[in-house]
Amino acid sequence: MSTLQVRVWRGDAKGGDFQSFDVPRRESQTVLDVVTFIQRTLDPTLAYRYACRVGMCGSCAMTVNGAPRWTCRTHVDKVAKDGKLSIAPLRNMPVIRDLAADMREFFDKWARAKGRFRGATTRKDDFAHVSPQSDARRLAEAGIECIGCGVCYAACDVVAASPDYLGPAALNRAWTLVNDVRDTDHARRLRAVAGDAGCLACHTHVSCTERCPKAIAPTAGIAGLKRAVSRAALKGEW
Ligand code: SF4
Ligand code: SF4
Ligand code: FES
Repeated sequence: MSTLQVRVWRGDAKGGDFQSFDVPRRESQTVLDVVTFIQRTLDPTLAYRYACRVGMCGSCAMTVNGAPRWTCRTHVDKVAKDGKLSIAPLRNMPVIRDLAADMREFFDKWARAKGRFRGATTRKDDFAHVSPQSDARRLAEAGIECIGCGVCYAACDVVAASPDYLGPAALNRAWTLVNDVRDTDHARRLRAVAGDAGCLACHTHVSCTERCPKAIAPTAGIAGLKRAVSRAALKGEW
């Protein structure tokens, strides 16, 4: 049986370093299997996060050989052809401990981007009838499957350079709601994403779109927000 040489980041918000482990290579092994093997067999103090193990929750996201990925959906064969793995917490977020990143700021930015649906109807009203073929519905649908894993956010160089930038996930959420015809908070939301830390700061590097495991394209949504913000400003809608 061959062996993987694995470097795992250890430490906390104050700092840390990589620690090396030898892990037996197995068939169909995922990066999350490797981390779990280390925690269960070699060092039970290793902190990391996961839940579903089947690509549904997004909580297992880490930096693997320099790129953000869902570790449960990343096969070792694909990323460690030379038998070497480097595993670190997600970039652009503070570290809680070892591989567990602190996502509070990431989700606070969803709130700053007005990422919460605000409707006008009550449970006594009929369901809204929105044609699946309408442009707004198709645009909303393109981003609705985001599960808030933070992979796009960790890939974004603008977030790295300007930590106040709302980032691709929050802006994708804002764009989804801008296209939700049932929502009533459009003007406030456009105002919220129009500032220096909003959609205009995006450099269209597309790293977010390249890395999203759900094949969402935040770059396209951000471009849509830029157009919507300009239109609203020209029409004096806020
Ligand atoms: S847009 Fe994709 S990568 Fe970004 S948080 Fe949502 S699911 Fe994750
Ligand atoms: S396209 Fe914009 S949001 Fe996406 S990674 Fe690039 S700068 Fe960040
Ligand atoms: S553990 Fe849920 S997506 Fe990986």
